[in-house]
Amino acid sequence: MNPARGSLLAIEHLEAAEILKILKFARGMNPDKPRPLLKGRRVLLLFYEASTRTRSSFEIAAKSLGAHTVLIQSTGSSIEKGESLLDTGYTVRALGADVIVIRHPNAGAPYVMAQHIDVPIVNAGDGLHEHPSQALLDAYTILRNKKSFKGLQVAIVGDIFHSRVARSACHLLSKFGVKIILCGPPELAPEIATTLAPGVRIARHIEDALRGTDVLMLLRVQTERLAGLKINLSEYVARYQMTAARLKMAKKDCIVMHPGPIIRGLELTSEVADGLQARILEEVRDGVPVRMAILARAMGKMR
Ligand code: NCD
Repeated sequence: MNPARGSLLAIEHLEAAEILKILKFARGMNPDKPRPLLKGRRVLLLFYEASTRTRSSFEIAAKSLGAHTVLIQSTGSSIEKGESLLDTGYTVRALGADVIVIRHPNAGAPYVMAQHIDVPIVNAGDGLHEHPSQALLDAYTILRNKKSFKGLQVAIVGDIFHSRVARSACHLLSKFGVKIILCGPPELAPEIATTLAPGVRIARHIEDALRGTDVLMLLRVQTERLAGLKINLSEYVARYQMTAARLKMAKKDCIVMHPGPIIRGLELTSEVADGLQARILEEVRDGVPVRMAILARAMGKMR
């Protein structure tokens, strides 16, 4: 079965025109001015992984459109008893789901769902693969701050290898000709990442990544991962942590983004996280209208 119309599985295969359409529609969405576009519809949120921002913003978005939401998490549901992904999918379909929003630790899980279940599937993050709604909201935040993608340089610093946020961002930004610089130690920012999308290059030194940069995107770095890869924590901090002094190497009006959760003292200092250039909470806010647009599109209401 082909994915139901309105599904959002990845950014990689989404056309630039469609991305702009979603972003434009999102600009007309405001959770403080609810629009009953999804009145009476059921949005099922199927979360097999922890989430704060993504889950709550899909929920607020769905409710702002007049939909009912049902949250199913792996703990406290039959998933814990070993029910398969598809059997859970058939069950929520039988319950009358009109849209399924799914986050899963395995890459491709939303695709499996979309091949067997005839309702739009929205990927809320699948393993190391993609996080399309995050890339769309990041693009929305960038455009609100920079007006256009033209001539932009975006630096992505941190654990790129394990980041679905980075993967989706590279696909999206490269469709608009943005210059993308990935920066981190080789274990976290391997050379192969340059094949992800056109316009992607690697910088090993933070100065090289920051010079001429308009948008700095920081990523979560897990201390367990550093330990597993035998990367010394204090060395990581010494070379890659974003400090106010380092941020000065970027363009004066460079904005600082992070999908969250942020780890102060590791990825960035509090001075940067709470500084004037930070847009981290703005991203969280922008997630709601963007997800309203994604859900409206899923139901064929994005007109
Ligand atoms: C990210 C995710 O889950 O991929 N967070 C998010 O959705 N805002 C980033 C991360 O957890 O590192």
